[in-house]
Amino acid sequence: MSTNEQLQPTIFAIFGGSGDLTWRKLVPSLFDLFQDVNMPPYFSIIALDRIDLTDIELRRRYRDGIEKFSRKGKISDEDWSGFSRHIYYKKGDFTKQEIYTVLKDQCTLLENEWKEKAQIIFYMATPPVMFGVIPGHLKEAGMTGNHERSRIVIEKPIGYDLDSALKLNKALTASFRESQIFRIDHYLGKETVQNILAFRFANPFFEPVWNRRYVDYVTITVAEDLGVEHRGEYYDKAGALRDMVQNHLMQLLCLVAMEPMISFQADEIRNKKVDVLHAMRPITREMIHKSAVRGQYGSGRPGGKEVSGYRGESGVSTGSFTETFAALKLYVDNWRWQDVPFYLRTGKRLPRQVSEITIQFRAVPHQSFPPEAIPDWQSSSLIISIQPNEGIVLCFQAKQPGTRLLLKPVNLKFNYQESFSTPIPDAYETLLWDVMTNDATLFMRADQVEAAWNILMPVIEEWSLNKPHDFPNYQAGTWGPASADTLFDPGHHWPVPAYLIDKDLK
Ligand code: BG6
Repeated sequence: MSTNEQLQPTIFAIFGGSGDLTWRKLVPSLFDLFQDVNMPPYFSIIALDRIDLTDIELRRRYRDGIEKFSRKGKISDEDWSGFSRHIYYKKGDFTKQEIYTVLKDQCTLLENEWKEKAQIIFYMATPPVMFGVIPGHLKEAGMTGNHERSRIVIEKPIGYDLDSALKLNKALTASFRESQIFRIDHYLGKETVQNILAFRFANPFFEPVWNRRYVDYVTITVAEDLGVEHRGEYYDKAGALRDMVQNHLMQLLCLVAMEPMISFQADEIRNKKVDVLHAMRPITREMIHKSAVRGQYGSGRPGGKEVSGYRGESGVSTGSFTETFAALKLYVDNWRWQDVPFYLRTGKRLPRQVSEITIQFRAVPHQSFPPEAIPDWQSSSLIISIQPNEGIVLCFQAKQPGTRLLLKPVNLKFNYQESFSTPIPDAYETLLWDVMTNDATLFMRADQVEAAWNILMPVIEEWSLNKPHDFPNYQAGTWGPASADTLFDPGHHWPVPAYLIDKDLK
């Protein structure tokens, strides 16, 4: 297998190396990068964890994960041996200094063998309680001081609320510079999410209409058909607002609403995104009931299969008030977006996994067609379909062929799979590549994370003080509680998902 000669020798030190994230996402993505000749000639994966495992056992487990989750699927022994020889396991307690000494020694050993200095990427694939612990030990071991060559990657949750996020950021910056900290939001690694910038700023025709003059409202839906699966214990303490809105949905909103960047520099783009968060209208306590709706799924029969309600899921308390659905109405108070509502919704056990952004345009200023010509009139809209079928659909009016004047809504679509033959990489592949090449564009800076928490804190506080009376309030397999519709201004509604209006996107 050839490798990418341009890349520096790299060591991935994965804390939580025997865990689910590493097995399901990190190692399969590293393997795919390796297959695509996107790994350096010298690299190593050092998995660190508490349990007893030999290198051989760990490798076997990783192979299983790769075969299940990598793009390649089943792999040959030859491909496997080329990759697996880079993997090592080290057992230890992350609260004790010994494991860091072991790690440091292993890194030195590898560097001596390679006869080159390596960049070291510390990946926090651990429970969040460790996020504030590991960086201090790494500093004590003298492993954080090389600002060019050492980096730390941290996954959400970045805090549980604004206070804890501030504390965590403080703990991280006590050991690493901000430029060394890569906070992952895996949504930003998704191809279509990155493409929002390309659509908006690489084409001249979107930008002139991308403002309050032409846009009536924006909706962002991130729906999941699954329940909480095996993550009930974590989820019951988090809920939809913390788990999805604070990070993924806020990031999507920023990409839709941000001003054009001057250059494609990480900080320039991140500055423009943080400007959006700073411009968001605060949700006052008095306005919460008009700005936020929560829901929790009860049992149901999605697709004819009986599933239990949230309160019956393993790890979830039987009287839980945790929301599995959240909808918000937000405003960005600036010249571009003043008074344009942004409606966000996300939930578990909805009818289908679908993530979409819809830009709903205003009606034409003067309707010149006779009423009989426009029986199905709909204002134009642009749907950005993030998953599962990456693409864009522009919905507009056209004349139906015939002697009579009759207008019908039609769709113009761009579909990733049809237009490009190259496979779409997993979000983690993109993000791991970016960490290796020290490109922080798609990662969240401390101020972004804090600003996103700041917006949601009034809702989080209100919801924790006032328990809902109607939970569970939506049936598994439906689009959430009916009360989500109360957020809408007259004439606004959740859009019909692209897969329902365009057969090819099914
Ligand atoms: C994670 C959440 O960040 O994103 C999960 O913790 C959620 O609860 C997942 O299921 C959704 O990601 P994706 O890529 O499947 O849309």
